[in-house]
Amino acid sequence: MNRINEDKIQFTVIEYGKSILVNSYTNEYRNLMILLRDKVFIDEFGECGGLGRCATCLVRVTGLKGAATQKERNEPITLQKYGIEEDAIRLSCQILITSDINGAIVEILDQYNR
Ligand code: FES
Repeated sequence: MNRINEDKIQFTVIEYGKSILVNSYTNEYRNLMILLRDKVFIDEFGECGGLGRCATCLVRVTGLKGAATQKERNEPITLQKYGIEEDAIRLSCQILITSDINGAIVEILDQYNR
């Protein structure tokens, strides 16, 4: 078995009610925001480039495991700054592409449906 198959990651993205099955592998992208911009083509997503400060990369995620469940660095401060209290809402730029997101459901949020 080659390395890519061993590290295979699959999860569901929901954008405007449409489900998209996304395939990736460990560390294919720097973080989930970059993956979503590349594979789902979302406009005006991730404006600070992944610094965890702009909250334009919001997702509602269920099914995360392990380290991906932890909010670290700027994430808790930024979510609080924007008044976001729901635990499942995350900054996608702070979620790494690892097996911890395998099987997750990732809903893209914008300012109108937070
Ligand atoms: S890209 Fe700015 S907070 Fe995620």
